Amino acid sequence: MTIETDQDLNGLKRIGRIVALTVREMQRQLKPGITTADLNDIGARFLEQHGARPAPGLTYDFPAATCISVNNEAAHGIPGERVIRSGDLVNIDVSAELDGYFADTGASMPVPPISALKRKLCNCARMARQKAIGAARAGRRLNEIGQAIETSARRCGFTVIRNVPGHGVGRGLHEEPSVPGFYLPSADQRLTEGLVITVEPFLATGARQVVTADDGWTLKTEDGSLAAQYEHTIVITRGRPIIITAL
Ligand code: CO
Ligand code: CO
Repeated sequence: MTIETDQDLNGLKRIGRIVALTVREMQRQLKPGITTADLNDIGARFLEQHGARPAPGLTYDFPAATCISVNNEAAHGIPGERVIRSGDLVNIDVSAELDGYFADTGASMPVPPISALKRKLCNCARMARQKAIGAARAGRRLNEIGQAIETSARRCGFTVIRNVPGHGVGRGLHEEPSVPGFYLPSADQRLTEGLVITVEPFLATGARQVVTADDGWTLKTEDGSLAAQYEHTIVITRGRPIIITAL
């Protein structure tokens, strides 16, 4: 969507804060021994207490309130009986709706003991998101976002997963435009003031694609390599974007 009124901005900020707090609450409870279903329940309750409705179920009949993806799973993991273990790399992605506004955020978090590789992958993916946000400005081209992500990943020696893009968001979970995580020459439209999008680089220790698992939802790296993602919902302005899902 493109923000037109203060009401739009305030509505987005309300749901943005709720999804960000939900991820933080789930991360607080993330420890060895917890199942991904229990972690999801914490998120589901938190959203409900704040009057928000989980977007994946609203939009796609996804069978849980949140997406939890572990190690070589990049996204859309279905919470279940899987038990979190020491050393796992866990991505929690939360999107939800309140009063007709949608926001989307996600973050990866390694469970101690944290290997040097996992720490570096997370730091680089977080840095790639920062660079992407820095490139997102009215008047600049959409593909500069992906270019910033790709450059950042390459400097770290990691790959970008190319087939999970960012996206427009606001009145629905997934709107136009698609926001590629790599430099796509044809994505050359100018960013406009008020446009609401996600930036969500997926970095991996080798993979450039994800494939859908047998459950029909989970997106796994093609080669079993590790993936990390950090996602914010942002509003494009003439200067630094407004980060809707920052706390
Ligand atoms: Co998300
Ligand atoms: Co998203």
